[in-house]
Amino acid sequence: MIGADYQRNWTQYFDFVGDSGARETLLCALDSHGPIDSARPPLALDVACGEGRDTRELLRRGWRVVAFDASEDGLTRLRASIDSAWAERLTLHRLSMEEAATSRLLPARVDVVNASFALPFCSPESFPALWSRLCGMLSPGGRFAGQIFGDRDEWAPVRPASHYTREAMLGLFEGFVMERCDEVEKDGSDAMGAVKHHHLFHVVARKG
Ligand SMILES: C[S@@+](CC[C@H](N)C(=O)[O-])C[C@H]1O[C@@H](n2cnc3c(N)ncnc32)[C@H](O)[C@@H]1O
Repeated sequence: MIGADYQRNWTQYFDFVGDSGARETLLCALDSHGPIDSARPPLALDVACGEGRDTRELLRRGWRVVAFDASEDGLTRLRASIDSAWAERLTLHRLSMEEAATSRLLPARVDVVNASFALPFCSPESFPALWSRLCGMLSPGGRFAGQIFGDRDEWAPVRPASHYTREAMLGLFEGFVMERCDEVEKDGSDAMGAVKHHHLFHVVARKG
């Protein structure tokens, strides 16, 4: 369940998901990016990285990563889970998405913006500024990977402005080439075992 404040108990969530492996959308974006030059590793931003399933994959593949989350517990788990040889390529910030919209802690340019099951948890008031910032920092040819929640999702009545029709979702990606846009609508278990009606878009998009 989602709370009236559109938040969950993230510690319980991290316990449930454990290290479930990187998200398909990130894997797709990284495969499309292709091999990296390890002498000049590309840079990814992991938005609301949680306990770090995607950050770990980026580091494992040799990327540099700036990752942030509002949850200290998530960041602590992430720090504890990485290979020490990867640490110099990782910068972690405890930061909310609302703060990230204007924070100087974020890099000016990145090659990937990864936001797995993250953006709906940004307050609708701050989302336009956050989205504009994320799009602005992405290099031409760089990729966005992540999820946008749909308007028929069971959680939509809790905060309708965090849920998008297909048309509104596509509007977010003006100036991008959609490389993957999988719309899923189904009844199924959520990350913590409860059954819910899901409606979401899995997106990988390349900035033009
Ligand atoms: C569904 S989890 C996704 C975590 C991770 N990206 C993944 O794919 O497993 C949502 C994450 O958003 C974080 N979060 C929720 N509200 C946030 C906010 N306003 N700013 C930053 N992080 C937030 C939570 O702490 C949690 O780690």
